[in-house]
Amino acid sequence: MSWSIRPIRPVPVLLLAVVLTACGGGVHGTPGAAGLSDPYFPRAGNGGYDVTHYDLTLAYDPAHRHLTGTAVITARATEDLSAFNLDLKGLDVGGVTVEGRGARWNRAGQELTVRPRAELDRGETFRTTVRYSGTPETITDADGSKEGWLGTAAGALALGEPAGSMAWFPGDHHPSDKATYDITVTVPEGLQAVSNGEPTRETTKDGRTTYAWHTGRPMASYVATVAIGHYTVTPSSLKNGLPVYVAVDPSQAEASRKVLARIPEIMEWEEDNFGPYPFSSTGAIVGRPDAAGYALETQTRPVFPGAPDTDTLVHELAHQWYGDSVTPDSWRDMWLNEGFATYAEWLWHEDHGGDTAQQTFDALYRGDYGDDPESNEAIWAFPPANPTSAAHVSDSPVYERGAMVLHKIRQSVGDDTFYDIIQGWADAHRYGNASTADFTAYVEKKAPHKDFGPLWRDWLYGEGKPERP
Ligand code: TRP
Ligand code: ZN
Repeated sequence: MSWSIRPIRPVPVLLLAVVLTACGGGVHGTPGAAGLSDPYFPRAGNGGYDVTHYDLTLAYDPAHRHLTGTAVITARATEDLSAFNLDLKGLDVGGVTVEGRGARWNRAGQELTVRPRAELDRGETFRTTVRYSGTPETITDADGSKEGWLGTAAGALALGEPAGSMAWFPGDHHPSDKATYDITVTVPEGLQAVSNGEPTRETTKDGRTTYAWHTGRPMASYVATVAIGHYTVTPSSLKNGLPVYVAVDPSQAEASRKVLARIPEIMEWEEDNFGPYPFSSTGAIVGRPDAAGYALETQTRPVFPGAPDTDTLVHELAHQWYGDSVTPDSWRDMWLNEGFATYAEWLWHEDHGGDTAQQTFDALYRGDYGDDPESNEAIWAFPPANPTSAAHVSDSPVYERGAMVLHKIRQSVGDDTFYDIIQGWADAHRYGNASTADFTAYVEKKAPHKDFGPLWRDWLYGEGKPERP
């Protein structure tokens, strides 16, 4: 029988069972799982391997909305594998190789199943190359927002939270599998392509320009980005030498100049409060307001739809510590991202002549925070540590009530221990993943004489509004 580089022909289940039984002891590897059983995104990610590096070589033609990609994925098998899955939504797969040899593959929904010629042994590092092309999809989230590949006036914007990255590259698309990245994008000359990390190369040939970006620290795929358009990219650096790359759509230059000039001040304030910045560059991508309906904490280079306000800039930069460096184990732990980034805004106000965090907390508890009484009620819809479904991971109980949990901890332990806790937490799980249970255990370890039971019960896990503030 010849192995061909084309989709696996469907095999009747019964026949497959007979073949497998007949092979007996000769077959030791089994297929990796098609999902990681995330409580809200059960098919996101895949079992059986861990990705260490993505090398993505992309070319985009905005006029035809056509993307051509080659993904070289370096991974380590965590079990003996006869096959494994990648997540990829839409696009056409042209071919797959594993360790340089043509592999069989097939597709079902967002699952791309790859069956290498030789089984993979547990512990083995292997390289998978996927060639693909097509018009990438814009995905509508469970909460109604848009992600994936968003067309813009001059180019495109790739946003991946929570499940959009599978629209532009195949991978292990769950926050628990972080990897380093090289992202290289070729676009028509005159356009820019901006991504995460640091630029390593820019070359123009035959009317097309190639931009290469390197991310040397582990990154979850949902915070990977590419922004293609007429950006003005301005490099600078912080006092401590950290490179800053700010990319601004010219239509937003004027409106964003003042706020972007505060990046150094915000970065320094966040380092004072959260500890050393974990990455090797920072910056921002400011697109047109209609590019996306929200800002996103894309690693090292958050994306903003139009000029951000200071609060939003503080929020997305705080996510670099809480979310990007320390990444949730699952989408249920989302409050570890949004509670922290929201509390960063409260602390910023407190330190800059605005309301104290206590005043913000009290206003939320009383229900007269901001000017929308309905949104005040919404805070109590569910507990921060249990947003109930994919549709609610970006709702206010995750953000505001998540921040209230942090404030309750601060009230309980005092400022010295509180800042110890938030800095120590960023340090203990730097570049990794952590869960809500890891966090509560960490807090308890830092303040062993306190009883946090009621706080966790009422504020973190409890339904409804806690009886006392
Ligand atoms: N994480 C973004 C922020 O608050 C908001 C966001 C965008 C989001 N898309 C999402 C949150 C999808 C949850 C799910 O900075
Ligand atoms: Zn956020």
